[in-house]
Amino acid sequence: LFQPGLQSQAPALTVAMATRVSKLRSRLHRLFSKVGVPDPGASAKYLLAHCIGQRTLTREHSRLELTAQQLSKLTGLCNRRLQREPLQYILGEWYFRDVSLVMRAPVFIPRPETEKLVDLAKQCWSAVGASSSHPHSLSRPRLFSEVCTGSGAVSVCLLRDLPQAHCLAIELLPEACHLTWENCHRNGVSNRLHLINASLATPGLLGRAPPLSLIVANPPYVPELDMRQLQPEVTFESPVALRGGGIGGLGVIVQLMDFADARLATGG
Ligand SMILES: C[S@@+](CC[C@H](N)C(=O)[O-])C[C@H]1O[C@@H](n2cnc3c(N)ncnc32)[C@H](O)[C@@H]1O
Repeated sequence: LFQPGLQSQAPALTVAMATRVSKLRSRLHRLFSKVGVPDPGASAKYLLAHCIGQRTLTREHSRLELTAQQLSKLTGLCNRRLQREPLQYILGEWYFRDVSLVMRAPVFIPRPETEKLVDLAKQCWSAVGASSSHPHSLSRPRLFSEVCTGSGAVSVCLLRDLPQAHCLAIELLPEACHLTWENCHRNGVSNRLHLINASLATPGLLGRAPPLSLIVANPPYVPELDMRQLQPEVTFESPVALRGGGIGGLGVIVQLMDFADARLATGG
């Protein structure tokens, strides 16, 4: 099924032809494990599911036989995975919490830990709303900012769960801005998205925008030297997504502190 030598790091492999889903699944699992693809079971399952037009595999799919066309598609996708292209880019779609997002290189792939950021932001949002005796009463439709938006994963979830909120999204990478827009549109929240394609450090960035009730961010923070220890998959993501914080990794975080100082509403 696989052409040997396509993945320069991987040993040459010959996998006997199979068409049944259950057999292909276990063979792919073994193949991915052997060459060190992380989480080989997930790669095998989702790539196979994708080729038969499903989101995941269930027991009923085990006996299905792939057509020649599906097998050829699977071969192409598996070879990409053997080159260590992230699964999310190969599939073109990924779930963040219960939200379906389009994924495209080189936009940062949301990590599972970032899902917690959404809960934290929602708690902070409720706390700001509760302090309504404050002179900067924030009980009206309110504005939050997501800085370093990436694919828009966090903004989509917050806009969906906070129907009175508007989001001012700030993102440096044009490709990420396109994806944020696409994902907000796909999830029906783009009418409350205000997207700025610029660096957070741009002077006078928000002009006369009202104070922000909340600022949420998952900024780049990996120091330059630590990049060498990361898996090959990260080389498919834009360098500014992980190491945009410079040599020590703190560059964007410092900018973020200044931004919050200037823009966060009192009590926000
Ligand atoms: C770690 S990723 C996080 C993306 C997204 N929030 C998530 O969690 O999936 C950091 C993002 O910050 C963007 N970025 C880096 N430097 C920036 C800057 N100075 N101003 C605005 N965005 C920046 C990168 O392009 C990247 O999309």
